[in-house]
Amino acid sequence: MSVDAPPLRLGILLSGRGSNFLAIAESVRAGRLKGVEIAVVISNIADAGGLQAARELGLPTALFVSKGRKRQEHDADVIACLRSYRANLVCLAGYMRLLSPEFIAAFPNRILNIHPSLLPAFPGLDAQTQAFDYGVKIAGCTVHFVDEHLDHGVIVVQRAIPVLDSDDAHSLAERILAEEHLAYTEAIARVAGGEYELHGRRFVRRNP
Ligand code: GRF
Repeated sequence: MSVDAPPLRLGILLSGRGSNFLAIAESVRAGRLKGVEIAVVISNIADAGGLQAARELGLPTALFVSKGRKRQEHDADVIACLRSYRANLVCLAGYMRLLSPEFIAAFPNRILNIHPSLLPAFPGLDAQTQAFDYGVKIAGCTVHFVDEHLDHGVIVVQRAIPVLDSDDAHSLAERILAEEHLAYTEAIARVAGGEYELHGRRFVRRNP
């Protein structure tokens, strides 16, 4: 990021334990993400571990319970909250809810998601088990921009690992998770740095 560029303000959305959020928070704290700050952490689940962890770190948090609400109405609250905290990059970090088209349109190419497979293989739930059961030899994770299709948008970063003969689905998922924690920081750095640009479906260096 250039010296006078405005800070990238992350709005992090999560539904669960929040280990990806915590990895991002640690990268910000340790100075690995220059010019990046966490604006707000939002959850749709009251007892999400990640939400509690964010509170303990003293970060701004918000809870919008999604259960029983129309997607569009719930998303309108989340969008308003993100705007009120001046978030300009939304990071889905284990956010177990599809976004409405209105949400995606509100942050064009400004929403990242992390998925525990090498997309386009194994979209959807339980991707690590899908990959393990399929018998792939290489597995990994993907950080991508969110578009209107599930686990489909432009790829920002992928990290791959071998599947070991000794693996089970659980050990594979754990080793993929360790890669996820590195991949999300790499992806945010690429978006923040301004050296990458979109060429159709490809997110590539401006001057390779
Ligand atoms: C991760 O495996 C991520 O790839 C998927 O949901 C999981 C969230 O884990 N989208 P955590 O809450 O970040 O620990």
